[in-house]
Amino acid sequence: MLHMQAVSKVYRTELVETHALRSLNLHVQEGEFVAVTGPSGSGKTTFLNIAGLLETFSSGEFMLDGENVRGLSDDARSRLRNRKIGFIFQGFNLIPDLNLFDNCDVPLRYRGMPSSERKLRIEDALALVGLGSRTKHFPAELSGGQQQRAAIARALAGTPRLLLADEPTGNLDSQMARSVMELLEEINAQGTTIIMVTHDPELAARAQRNVHIVDGMATDLSAEPSLTQAAHSAPAASTANA
Ligand SMILES: Nc1ncnc2c1ncn2[C@@H]1O[C@H](COP(=O)(O)OP(=O)(O)OP(=O)(O)O)[C@@H](O)[C@H]1O
Ligand SMILES: [Mg+2]
Repeated sequence: MLHMQAVSKVYRTELVETHALRSLNLHVQEGEFVAVTGPSGSGKTTFLNIAGLLETFSSGEFMLDGENVRGLSDDARSRLRNRKIGFIFQGFNLIPDLNLFDNCDVPLRYRGMPSSERKLRIEDALALVGLGSRTKHFPAELSGGQQQRAAIARALAGTPRLLLADEPTGNLDSQMARSVMELLEEINAQGTTIIMVTHDPELAARAQRNVHIVDGMATDLSAEPSLTQAAHSAPAASTANA
């Protein structure tokens, strides 16, 4: 599904060069649920943005669902992103002056989908996350957990093949975090590949596979038991490689 080989990303400003990704290798198979952990500033969001075709990379090879991303025009990348990828951003990225229905509608309109189909998809997605009765509410009228679920609904309404989630439970209490995680697990069980960045070791342990990004490089924790223990210093934590 997603194959990155030696992918690097350098951000250049007038004063500094930041090597956000350094020759990162990561392979994700169709249907996997992968948790990505790592320190702040290590490159996790950069990786997700590149994986989701929101940003370009400086060097390396990246195949997404059989297509060589490097060779694609901007237009082709946008189309691919719109058809196949759902995003749940760090912070929710809901548009404050649009109600929930319209927030979910934005990416679907962009795809040129007929309004009857959009309506069905949006209502289904909002119902799935338990917000069926809130379609006319504005983001500011919702709790943090509800906003987070609305952001998930917006991603799901597009029925993405690949769902990229950046700290989807970051602002939630532990009970709400667990219920968002359960929702993601259901979506994954229905066939959507998920890559989730999280700081929460309990949630990471529930994913099928754990990848640790440090200093712009990825390590597969499931393949390196000694590193696993170092990363999860909590007693009895495990990577639960189901
Ligand atoms: N647009 C940008 N321009 C310049 N540098 C950037 C840009 N975006 C990110 N960086 C730098 O790239 C590095 C990786 O950032 P990134 O956002 O990927 O980290 P992260 O692992 O997601 O961190 P966090 O856990 O805090 O969200 C950081 O040093 C950051 O300052
Ligand atoms: Mg980040």
